[in-house]
Amino acid sequence: MALNVHHLGIAVPDVDAAVLVYSDLFGATLEHRESLDDQGVLAASLLVGPSRIELLEPLGEDTPVGRFLAKRGPGMHHVAFEVADVVAELARLRAHDVQLIDEEPRRGLFGLQVAFVHPEATGGVLAEFVADGS
Ligand code: CO
Repeated sequence: MALNVHHLGIAVPDVDAAVLVYSDLFGATLEHRESLDDQGVLAASLLVGPSRIELLEPLGEDTPVGRFLAKRGPGMHHVAFEVADVVAELARLRAHDVQLIDEEPRRGLFGLQVAFVHPEATGGVLAEFVADGS
């Protein structure tokens, strides 16, 4: 079960421009910026008090976020739920025939373990599990 909402993921065409917008409008502070080549994104993690927003700029058109931007434009991309054990959560959902994008966890920002649940399973919102990878 989810422990809390870890972050909201937002697709943007230019991550550095978006960092400035979120910092100017909402006082968000840049926590971390990293290129995740295997996921095809340049990602920036921002803190707003104890809460976190993840801005995602695609590294190319033929990437998941690149296709999302082309189809739907910039905006909300996913909700990430923190869990104790991503593998266990995937197994629990699989046992309920929930449609998954990732059958195994992969490496996300900060080296966290992440895995995505298909938006078909949630009523249209991509969901992500996040757990400490260590
Ligand atoms: Co995320």
